[in-house]
Amino acid sequence: MVLRIETERLVLTPEEPADAGWFTELLNARGTGVFTRSDAVERIAAMTETIATSGIGVLAVRRRSDDAALGYCGLVVGRGSLGEPELAYELLPSARAHGYATEAARAVLAAAFATGRTRIWATVRSWNEPSFRVLAKLGFARDHTTVDDAGELVWLVHDG
Ligand SMILES: CC(C)(COP(=O)(O)OP(=O)(O)OC[C@H]1O[C@@H](n2cnc3c(N)ncnc32)[C@H](O)[C@@H]1OP(=O)(O)O)[C@@H](O)C(=O)NCCC(=O)NCCS
Repeated sequence: MVLRIETERLVLTPEEPADAGWFTELLNARGTGVFTRSDAVERIAAMTETIATSGIGVLAVRRRSDDAALGYCGLVVGRGSLGEPELAYELLPSARAHGYATEAARAVLAAAFATGRTRIWATVRSWNEPSFRVLAKLGFARDHTTVDDAGELVWLVHDG
């Protein structure tokens, strides 16, 4: 997948060690635990390795107008496969509800299909309305639902 994507308001590029500050903030915004800067550095290094070995991964999303980091968006194997990966995105709370996730994800989806892939998945917890809205705007369709320890998971698919 191409590793630099530009949209009207955004630029997407691979995460770098210097992204650890905002990435720590994003991890802590999940409310699932306390993360340190070194946790963020470790995860960024792992993602750099994933992109180098698989050719796909998530990219840092920045606003063109002021270069502010907003979050990440990209493709991950996740619950899918390298041939049929998952779309993934997560923004800092302050960056939400401006249409940025939809704008970034639309461009990532186009880049995914440009690689020759014909099917992209997304998995969403059943309570996550903002994420369902993003996927609906991109043309994803609900496929099936599974249940795991964390509850109900909805699988959505986009066939290009
Ligand atoms: C999901 C997420 C990336 C969406 O980012 P975003 O930039 O706010 O998304 P957009 O602004 O492009 O679109 C959000 C849509 O959800 C809607 N929305 C926001 N909060 C909502 C709520 N509580 N209930 C219903 N809809 C909601 C918005 O109105 C918008 O829809 P619209 O364009 O039809 O008005 C962001 O909320 C986030 O980072 N969440 C935490 C991480 C996460 O859940 N990632 C996805 C895992 S599957």
